[in-house]
Amino acid sequence: MAKQFDVAVIGAGAAGMMCAAVAAQRGKRVVLIDHAEKLAEKIRISGGGRCNFTNINAAPQNFLSHNPHFCKSALSRYTPQDFLTLVKKHRIGYHEKHRGQLFCNESAEQIIQMLKAECASGDVTWRMPSKVESLEKTADGFFILTDSGEILADSVVIATGGLSIPKIGATDFGYRIAAQFDLKMVEPRPGLVPLTFDGPSWEAFVPLAGIALEVEVETGSNKGKGNKRGHFREDLLFTHRGLSGPAILQISSYWQPGTPIIVNLLPDMDVAQELIDGKSTLKKQLGNVVSQWLPVRLAEGLIAVAGLSPDARLADLPDAKLRKLGDAINRWAIVPTGSEGYRKAEVTLGGIDTRELSQQSMMANKVPGLYFIGEAVDVTGWLGGYNFQWAWASGVAAGQAV
Ligand code: FDA
Repeated sequence: MAKQFDVAVIGAGAAGMMCAAVAAQRGKRVVLIDHAEKLAEKIRISGGGRCNFTNINAAPQNFLSHNPHFCKSALSRYTPQDFLTLVKKHRIGYHEKHRGQLFCNESAEQIIQMLKAECASGDVTWRMPSKVESLEKTADGFFILTDSGEILADSVVIATGGLSIPKIGATDFGYRIAAQFDLKMVEPRPGLVPLTFDGPSWEAFVPLAGIALEVEVETGSNKGKGNKRGHFREDLLFTHRGLSGPAILQISSYWQPGTPIIVNLLPDMDVAQELIDGKSTLKKQLGNVVSQWLPVRLAEGLIAVAGLSPDARLADLPDAKLRKLGDAINRWAIVPTGSEGYRKAEVTLGGIDTRELSQQSMMANKVPGLYFIGEAVDVTGWLGGYNFQWAWASGVAAGQAV
């Protein structure tokens, strides 16, 4: 016989566990279903094993969405300070690493145990590992067929995340449910992902793998809907297949295939001016001058791309050529071939179109009782604890509404 619950939450990751705990602590009978063998693998591997669980500066402008206003309500009602209060209640030591990013002192496992304990204090029923075969709307709720039995629930919360890292259990379940109920989607694509480059113009940079430096990077424009222009100052890393590091992961979420990213490799210097001014005083060779500022191999690669020789004497070079080199360093425009894809992406951009959901409760406007939270929704944070903050905030919003 089917078991009856007030709320069924499908997906026991960050958003799902938070939502289940909040709803259960309000007295709701909650069942939490997940198909994975191991609980919350994404939390476990996050932040290099220490989980960057929030960012104290998290604000709506740190999120990408077709509708940048959608996330405001949930984020303002459950803030990073609220999550910190929970972390402190569970006596989890934490520290700030970089620009408001908060990490566990010991292990991400502590966040998983904290959420498990919060679920236990509300008496959440677990169905895990358990596969959902089908989900149907009934006259007064939902019928869920799982490989561990039938479930009837007044409300269903879909918290199955995005497509990133399929090898630890990511599926398109949320998107299939959206299609089943005729809800619009914003095309999903990998975000916070290394970018790849190939072809003859990239050959000079292949040997640079391993070089890292702080840069400014930008792409896109603010024309049209959504937050489309990205601009970050972070570290960039040359890899065997292209570029990575925080600067590139951040800009990858704003990058559109076929368009360039612009990298300022020396953001604190007007390189063209510096080279032109140096002509009178610097008798040195171009390669020696530029490699005072940039790693030698990178300096030589850029000089070659600008069509110059590292042995040329600075004083002998016309200003126009030095300007071209300055531009290649201050505004290095490169068009990625692609990205490393969902295999390496930390998040999935796009998802359930926010126009289909209530920003207060996360409920689908045309399917009363059906909610979507976390990464499944078209709200994606920057690198740095923002994505968990969205998972917590959207989970709480639905947990309070179901
Ligand atoms: P999440 O992916 O956490 O959970 C979804 C759950 O649904 C999983 O348990 C899965 O098994 C289950 N599921 C999927 N399909 C199902 C199905 N068909 N049936 C049943 N269950 C199903 N963010 C951040 O803020 N700080 C950080 O430090 C990091 N670090 C990081 C590192 C790496 C390597 C990755 C890949 C990602 C991060 N992130 C991050 C991003 C962050 O992990 C992510 O945004 C949140 O986990 C999203 O939370 P959700 O609960 O929405 O999905």
